[in-house]
Amino acid sequence: MHVAMVGTGYVGLVSGACLAAIGHSVACVDADPVRVDLLSRGECPIHEDGLDRLIREGMAAGRLGATTDLAAAMDGAQVVIVAVGTPSLDGRIDLSAVEAAAHQVGLALRGRRDRPVVAVKSTVVPGTTATLVRRALEEASGGRAGREFGLAMNPEFLSQGSAVTDFLHPDRIVVGEWDPRSGELMAELYRPLAAPLLRMGLAEAEMVKYAANSLQALLISYANQIAALCEALPGADHRRVMAAVHLDRMLDGPEGRRAGATRFLMGGIGFGGSCFPKDLQALTVFAHRLGVPVPLIAAISAVNAVRPAQALHLLSSRLGGLFERRVAVLGLTFKPGTDDLRESPGLKLIDRLRRHGAEVLAHDPLPQARTRARDAGLPVADRVEDALAGANAVIIATAWPQYRQLAWSALGEVVVLDGRNLLDGLDLPASLQVVRMGAGPVSPEVPTP
Ligand SMILES: NC(=O)c1ccc[n+]([C@@H]2O[C@H](COP(=O)([O-])OP(=O)(O)OC[C@H]3O[C@@H](n4cnc5c(N)ncnc54)[C@H](O)[C@@H]3O)[C@@H](O)[C@H]2O)c1
Repeated sequence: MHVAMVGTGYVGLVSGACLAAIGHSVACVDADPVRVDLLSRGECPIHEDGLDRLIREGMAAGRLGATTDLAAAMDGAQVVIVAVGTPSLDGRIDLSAVEAAAHQVGLALRGRRDRPVVAVKSTVVPGTTATLVRRALEEASGGRAGREFGLAMNPEFLSQGSAVTDFLHPDRIVVGEWDPRSGELMAELYRPLAAPLLRMGLAEAEMVKYAANSLQALLISYANQIAALCEALPGADHRRVMAAVHLDRMLDGPEGRRAGATRFLMGGIGFGGSCFPKDLQALTVFAHRLGVPVPLIAAISAVNAVRPAQALHLLSSRLGGLFERRVAVLGLTFKPGTDDLRESPGLKLIDRLRRHGAEVLAHDPLPQARTRARDAGLPVADRVEDALAGANAVIIATAWPQYRQLAWSALGEVVVLDGRNLLDGLDLPASLQVVRMGAGPVSPEVPTP
């Protein structure tokens, strides 16, 4: 099938490259000419495992292209997918990019007789596709949804850091449809992927995305709440507590034990990224508009917001304060495997540390993450050794696997706050004082295993 992908950020680009990899012909459109230039040269503008290879192969096979010209990209397209950003603006979801893209798509639909399907992949609050998007498309095209063009909502569940694998091997594919023909065409698009495909109404598909994201975030905040309790409990370690919880059969999938949910049920310094924080906020505001109280959803963000402070409290009590202490913060991206700094917990820690008078030098294995952080005024070392030199404390803020391999024994008497449980199972020298998240103070009165 011929597909036009509008917006080639983390979601649009991965989706476009993967759809080309499964045999479709994909024209990627972005408003950013620099991004399109890079792509046209076969270069990958983001860090995502396996993506650069898919882009090169797709371009070489003539199945993947990039342009700023939406109308040209839509020429002959049977499916037009909108994957532009939906950030938070003053606590609300900003749908202006979706509306603008729908308007532009609508203009390019004028006079078309072949009834392409327009599918929203961006995360949008329930009701958006059937109202705002449909109206923008109808007004600009002069046609009607379900008649001159099809309309669908196809939420994306990929995770940055494993996005290509997630797209090609999804847990499920969700298609919300305005009309049955649109649902059928979307099912045809995904036929090469072996995953259950669920067809439903547009608002239901929009809701699935919020329900899935808020559940994952809920698991993290729940584990962090247990971790915070353990931090105040002499001799306790939440990892032993959670290991026992993880064995509950309630967490088994239909085919037996699956490790999936337990990945989220683990304490740390909290979640960040471009999705959970903004999606939880959007869902809370949306619920408020509906007049439905959602205290549980609101509590997820509240629990997450205090984790950096709780982490620094642990560190400060070991260091005897943070003022003028040299702290190396390892990891700037919100998770390993991506160059995305949006809402990164590491950045929140750096900000707090500096406000407490600590001297911070940060590091990230990705040069582009270091450059972006430096551009934002943060102190960043290019070499991890330079960040560590002379540090009184080290914070592991992102679980980059290369940090596990550091020469920890050469560090001497340093306090290490392991915000990501990355050092678990390593044989570390006694000179290192490792502060583990979710672990209470050692007490002479309470024996620990
Ligand atoms: N990042 C994730 O892990 C993830 C996962 C699932 C869903 N989502 C959702 O997918 C959507 C996109 O997220 P993202 O992280 O890829 O965003 P992003 O900000 O990385 O990318 C958006 C891209 O759209 C382009 N764009 C904006 N308006 C345009 C227009 N009118 N025409 C052409 N291009 C345009 C921008 O230039 C940018 O490159 C959001 O709604 C997000 O919530 C994101």
